[in-house]
Amino acid sequence: MSLDIEKYEKILRRLPKPILRWVEKRLKKIPKFRAMIEAEDEKLRETLDHSLKPYREVFSRNFEIPKEGISKDQILSDMKKMNELETPRWQQGYVSGGIYHGDPSHIDFLNEVYTLHSQSNPLHSDLFPSATKFEAEIVSMVAGILGKGQALDTDKVCGTVTSGGTESILLAMKTYRDHARMKRGITRPEIIAATTAHVAFDKAADFFGLKLVKIPLGADYKMNVAIAKKAVNRNTIAIVASAPAFPHGVIDPIESLSAIALEKGIGLHVDCCLGGFVLPFAEKLGAPVPPFDFRLKGVTSISIDTHKYGYAAKGTSVCLYRNEELRHHQFFTATDWPGGLYFSPTLAGSRPGALSAACWASLMATGEKGYLEATQAILNTAEKIKSGIRSIPELKILGEPLWIIAFASDTLNIYEVLDQMTKRQWNLNGLHHPESVHIALTLRHTQPGIAEKFLADLKESIEAVKANPGLTNGMAPVYGMASSLPFRGLVSDLLKKTLDAIYRV
Ligand SMILES: Cc1ncc(COP(=O)(O)O)c(C=O)c1O
Repeated sequence: MSLDIEKYEKILRRLPKPILRWVEKRLKKIPKFRAMIEAEDEKLRETLDHSLKPYREVFSRNFEIPKEGISKDQILSDMKKMNELETPRWQQGYVSGGIYHGDPSHIDFLNEVYTLHSQSNPLHSDLFPSATKFEAEIVSMVAGILGKGQALDTDKVCGTVTSGGTESILLAMKTYRDHARMKRGITRPEIIAATTAHVAFDKAADFFGLKLVKIPLGADYKMNVAIAKKAVNRNTIAIVASAPAFPHGVIDPIESLSAIALEKGIGLHVDCCLGGFVLPFAEKLGAPVPPFDFRLKGVTSISIDTHKYGYAAKGTSVCLYRNEELRHHQFFTATDWPGGLYFSPTLAGSRPGALSAACWASLMATGEKGYLEATQAILNTAEKIKSGIRSIPELKILGEPLWIIAFASDTLNIYEVLDQMTKRQWNLNGLHHPESVHIALTLRHTQPGIAEKFLADLKESIEAVKANPGLTNGMAPVYGMASSLPFRGLVSDLLKKTLDAIYRV
């Protein structure tokens, strides 16, 4: 991308945000600038169409419902081909996060459970008491690993099954908003979170009219507690902490935040979407896990994803609360609708009972022993990878992560390293502020030889970048531009155009 504004980036970056937004608005009115953006958009459109739609030339494109149904054999055959094309990359361990278990026998088992319950809908608890049983037991089992019954005042911990981490977070934030409105009369609610808190909290703020106050990180990549404490005011409804946060895999100082929440009489949500099924077992295995769950008195809610390290199929998570009184603010009820009395615990109405069934089956089949073994394998692989990265002089690990490992470079363009890794099949996560890359280790990476392959490819990638710095036809310039462009409105437009591209047949 060769926008001339890159030349003025440093000056622009020093401008206060409202002035920058004003400059951006003015610039967009200048025909030459608009033409430049449109030209860039066209280039982006071509790149996106190429990378997002590899099947255009391979399978038929369908713009409308076929006049007559296609044969089921044909449909299944095409779908099997797509599956065969897409499976090897994650199956062989080239993907950061994404697929957390992936063993064929585990997948077959979950599929069998799904088939049995494919018609189930927890909304109809009278028709599907199995769904009710599964969901109540999922919540109870998950609460049990996050401190329920293990300390004073933890026996009332309760929750609901949701569709994923984002929904759990949205619901928790809505709950705090409604609770604070009723109990404290707060009409301009604020939540406090580190800059690294998952973007679902930004989404919640956007959806539910909350002000999200972002707290910078300390040198250790954890939320700066002193700044967080100062940020609490009479509109604050909750602090958010991560265990760990997605970007650098670092756990916020939750014990200190718990003390602040208690002192100020506000909520403390711990986002354990990534860590909820690793940290409790890592603690039992003797890893250095700081206190993070309901055993801390100030922790009032936790999000934890069964569809990540709980090894369930995609589409389930749990949102836990310290007590039922708080959970009531999540629930929706309608008493006067002509369609009858209506009550629903989460965002959706009808829900896929088969996913709850598969989630329950995953917890039951894995058992504590299975989670301990899985965690041990992941931590062992993480040690190998961390010491391998530490031995590469061009790289440095950010913070002190357990198994989600972010690395950066003072001497190389890390996005070019990322591009080189992509060329070698790896699907890693590009991060910014600071520019870095991470790998979230899963059971896929514990397969023999994967850690060694990762490190060998990383070393080769670094040599390739050193031999030809600046030479890339991958995503590095896009990442670099998106990370450094001072006009965030333009970056946002770019992302919306990517979504448009996704929905183009
Ligand atoms: C820490 C954390 N919280 C929340 C989420 C959101 O989860 P989901 O993608 O299931 O909505 C993620 C996803 O990676 C995460 O890492």
